[in-house]
Amino acid sequence: MKAIVQDIYGPPEVLRTDEVDRPAARSGEVLVQVEAAGLGPEVWHLVAGMPRVVRLGTGLGRPRHPVAGRDLAGRVVEVGEGVTEFGVGDAVFGTGWGTFAEYARAPVSRLARKPDRVGFAAAGAAPVSGLTALQALRDKARIGPGDRVAVIGAGGGVGTFAVQIAKIMGAEVTGVCGTDKTDLVRSLGADHVVDYPREDFTATPDPYDAIVDTAGHRSVRALRRALAPRGTLVIVGSETGGQWLGGLQRSMGSALLAPLTGHRMPLFLSTEERADLEALAEYMADGRLSPVIGRSYPLEEVPEALRRWAEGHARGKTVITIGTGE
Ligand SMILES: NC(=O)c1ccc[n+]([C@@H]2O[C@H](COP(=O)([O-])OP(=O)(O)OC[C@H]3O[C@@H](n4cnc5c(N)ncnc54)[C@H](OP(=O)(O)O)[C@@H]3O)[C@@H](O)[C@H]2O)c1
Repeated sequence: MKAIVQDIYGPPEVLRTDEVDRPAARSGEVLVQVEAAGLGPEVWHLVAGMPRVVRLGTGLGRPRHPVAGRDLAGRVVEVGEGVTEFGVGDAVFGTGWGTFAEYARAPVSRLARKPDRVGFAAAGAAPVSGLTALQALRDKARIGPGDRVAVIGAGGGVGTFAVQIAKIMGAEVTGVCGTDKTDLVRSLGADHVVDYPREDFTATPDPYDAIVDTAGHRSVRALRRALAPRGTLVIVGSETGGQWLGGLQRSMGSALLAPLTGHRMPLFLSTEERADLEALAEYMADGRLSPVIGRSYPLEEVPEALRRWAEGHARGKTVITIGTGE
């Protein structure tokens, strides 16, 4: 099968299209014919092996899994031993191993059924970013109806999901984004939009009950100024920070600082679970959540897609379409 392969960590140039053996589903897994796969920072981290802490899980000297890609949407073509949840022909979405390929293995615990009315490209855009937004808002910020919530990086991969999910949860949402994305963020339902190159959202007279930061360019001190006295700051991540811990450095620092302040600043790492994928599927099925696809590329253009993403200022999700994406 055709796949995007890397032998070493490095820039997008280390990726090449190659013919590799089609994998087989192992126990508790299915083999999926991939139709679409999202691309974002999680792919960058695995390809670059940066920040270095990721290599503890992916291989110290060189990548343990030579095929890139984590999000996926497609059809089950083979079921592994013990699998009763899905059968051949089922349309699914979630995460797997080496999804920038014609076929990829995926554990059934990280898959859900794709709703019929949702295309493969939209479903393939949703897993990592959608789960991150859902868990940050529901489990860490614990937002509820009427809460004032600010989403920083509202026009990006996680941010476009976060704005929509915060609205579903009944919050009053402020989206903070670059000038070219203000219309997009408003169209996603944000009640207020802050064009960050022109306005400082931390100068608000009405503090926020929760801030979800996916950009990481403001100091924690500045963000706390914009928080209500018992408000919550969820640092989702950033591409800033040192080469060892990257964006984690900032979230670990604020989690340690939190007990000395009146604010909650929990450490946050998203997880991939079927129940949460099913929650996203439900929102997408009834039309309340629509993944925003900024760009899409065919499989062979993954290196170009990654280069463009790394320039910064992503608009929604980048999606690699392997089938038709429909
Ligand atoms: N903790 C976890 O478990 C977890 C899970 C997933 C992702 N992450 C991390 O979360 C971060 C965001 O991921 P993503 O997929 O959303 O990335 P993304 O798609 O690249 O989006 C980032 C967005 O931030 C915006 N931005 C940049 N500077 C900004 C600023 N100063 N103020 C407001 N917005 C700004 C960018 O565009 P504009 O500047 O043009 O608006 C872009 O739209 C990444 O660092 C990723 O590694 C963490």
